[in-house]
Amino acid sequence: MIYPVILSGGSGTRLWPLSREALPKQFLKLTSENTLFQESLLRLNGLPDIAQPIVVCNNGHRFLVAEQLLEINKPPLIEILEPVGRNTAPAVAIAAFAAQEKDAEAVLLVLPADHLISDVPAFHKAIQAAEKLAQQDMLVTFGIEPHEPATGFGYIERGAALNVDHAAFGVARFVEKPNLETAKSFLESGNFFWNSGMFVFKASVYLSELKALRPEIYQASQQAWLNSTRDLDFCRLDEKSFNACPSESIDYAVMEHTRSAAMVTVNMGWSDIGSWSSLAQSSAFDSKGNSLRGDVYADQTSNSYIRAESRMVAVIGVSDLVVVETSDAVLVMHKDQAQEVKHTVDYLKKAK
Ligand code: GDD
Ligand code: MG
Repeated sequence: MIYPVILSGGSGTRLWPLSREALPKQFLKLTSENTLFQESLLRLNGLPDIAQPIVVCNNGHRFLVAEQLLEINKPPLIEILEPVGRNTAPAVAIAAFAAQEKDAEAVLLVLPADHLISDVPAFHKAIQAAEKLAQQDMLVTFGIEPHEPATGFGYIERGAALNVDHAAFGVARFVEKPNLETAKSFLESGNFFWNSGMFVFKASVYLSELKALRPEIYQASQQAWLNSTRDLDFCRLDEKSFNACPSESIDYAVMEHTRSAAMVTVNMGWSDIGSWSSLAQSSAFDSKGNSLRGDVYADQTSNSYIRAESRMVAVIGVSDLVVVETSDAVLVMHKDQAQEVKHTVDYLKKAK
């Protein structure tokens, strides 16, 4: 049985001012009538042997998550509530403890809540191949062919081909978020793939790797789980133990160091909605390259993403801009500066 684990505790600061602490991007309807969080579950429809989802999120979002699950008729197996974010290595560990309690043989399908995938049948085939490798005690990643030297992704160097009915390889090297120069050299070599941020492995295999590689994270997560309080399908992690847990992503804590990694490569129209420029790239645009959302008037404007949430927005004679209007903040920026938004959020946090 495959247990989907939806990681939805991120804050999505680069999509400010739409994405806020109280309502981060994964819970917004950015690309369709469903939120990104809902889309990540709906695209599992049709896969055989799938358990109810395990959702790991911030305590402050518990009702939002419950409501969004209800809307799409996907009751959770358990909703694990974090008192603070400790990044993804502990979040996955707690999900593994929870799954193991139900099923000692549980295989986890770890899914971020902020992705788009346009070719769902290709995604399903890749999951089925990944499950076969996970049954052989591998930690399986999904490799995406890179098309630019992005520095916000993990890179996976292809090892020897693996014998499964899908393109799959051992992992020679996993490098999380390299600098630009290194990313360029990886792209040129032709041997590297982007890590999609989704994983398939047995809960037991992940926990034993984590215990060996990062015993402090393993122990703090275990304590937070053992001392948690349960109420219906909510599980509130023990605050003291979880606060003490080091904050580290699964990529740095486990994937860069494990010797049991494998990679299924897949072409499935994948994108990570990390910033306004990536959202603009994934949105439908008109003949001038504009994506206009809401009450927008655009004249002599090209290659721009303009979004009006609460008032009318007019743009004249501009190009390559992102304009996002909300009731209490307006963002106007050049598309090339999309990574800089988080500095605005840092500034606002300090000013508070
Ligand atoms: N529950 C929980 N708790 N979820 C979290 C936390 C946390 O503390 N921090 C992040 N998440 C969730 C986010 O909401 C997102 O759905 C997922 O975990 C991944 O976190 P990101 O912060 O978005 O990671 P990233 O995009 O920088 O990097 C990862 O994804 C890339 C592909 O999109 C890495 O796995 C990279 O290697 C990968 O290339
Ligand atoms: Mg991400």
